[in-house]
Amino acid sequence: MLGGQRLNTTRVTKGEGMVRHFWAPGRVNLIGDHTDYSGGLVLPAAIDRGLTLTVEAAQRITLTSSDHEGVADMAPDGSGGTPDGWGRYVAAVAAELHALGRPPVGVTGSLTSDLPAGSGLSSSAALEVGVAPAVCAGADFALDPMALAQAGPRAEQAAVGVACGVLDQAASIRGRADSAVLLDCTTLETRLVPLAADLAIVVVDSGVTRQLEASGYGRRRAELEEGAARLGRPLADLTPGDLGDVPDDVGGRRVRHVVTENARVRAAVDALAADDRAAVGELFAASHASLRDDYEVTVAETDLLVELLGKAGAVAARMTGGGFGGSVVALVAADRADAVAEEVVAAYGRAQHRATATAYRCQAADGAAEVGRSDEGEEPQQQGSH
Ligand code: GLA
Repeated sequence: MLGGQRLNTTRVTKGEGMVRHFWAPGRVNLIGDHTDYSGGLVLPAAIDRGLTLTVEAAQRITLTSSDHEGVADMAPDGSGGTPDGWGRYVAAVAAELHALGRPPVGVTGSLTSDLPAGSGLSSSAALEVGVAPAVCAGADFALDPMALAQAGPRAEQAAVGVACGVLDQAASIRGRADSAVLLDCTTLETRLVPLAADLAIVVVDSGVTRQLEASGYGRRRAELEEGAARLGRPLADLTPGDLGDVPDDVGGRRVRHVVTENARVRAAVDALAADDRAAVGELFAASHASLRDDYEVTVAETDLLVELLGKAGAVAARMTGGGFGGSVVALVAADRADAVAEEVVAAYGRAQHRATATAYRCQAADGAAEVGRSDEGEEPQQQGSH
């Protein structure tokens, strides 16, 4: 066991006594926000923070968490429990997998995470992406990784009513060390984009609570879809040159953000490949401005953090994720990353008093995987690294 308490349940499948260990990372999105649910482009990286799950086969699904109170306990198809909080996600994932044909075998175990909840590093997607293969493995049920990624948004919608896209789950699954992942959300094709070794990723959480289910996320999506419906073509097929006739109203501005953001993702991939840091900085700045002015999902605190990061010498900085608070992401010269993070957190503290910022230095990391197996009581046999 890697952590948490073992529950006293009966194991029922072959492989009795086999304890399996799964890892699912959080993610940071470098550029391409609010583009995933219209089939656009995103450029996230899985990060070296995440969630570890330790499970063995059992009659029911019964999980404890080292970070949260309570036990998530339910029938193998996700029904019959009284899950709240994080248990809602477990139940919704189990129900999705049941609908995809997973045999009704349970697992029991525990999870432990070093992802701060609600700060834009996708702790809920990591939970979904960690639980799904663990529950599948318990039932000898295999699922294509991207089918598993797509089950995540459906589970999220069922659990908390957020109609999110596939960005977070796909990043947690497809991430690779030292690379960002270019994901086309129409085809679900991915391409790795290596990141320069002397650049660090710094995420600064504004401390302004971001609760997507209570935020305008769903409203923004509806506004975008209304704006897009007038155009009669998929947004992902449009380029900024096609925007001439788009009216400057709410729907038009949402469309303009998405079409220009898709173009910025493409340009950022080229700029990163050419190691053109000035261009990367300009693209991040333009992305933030578009999310502020056209999509209206930044808040004064994330605007301030981007400004402070620029002043402190970050190569590039922008808000990341759903917005309405949450985090900003910056690329910073690795040898200056700690000093820049410290300076920005201190300056933020002096400038505003509603919230306290927290900085996380992250590294692009490998995606979700089974990372070890052991017989009960043994040390795990490592199967891979994360
Ligand atoms: C949240 C959602 C994602 C994506 C981002 C914005 O993180 O979960 O699907 O829409 O917001 O890019």
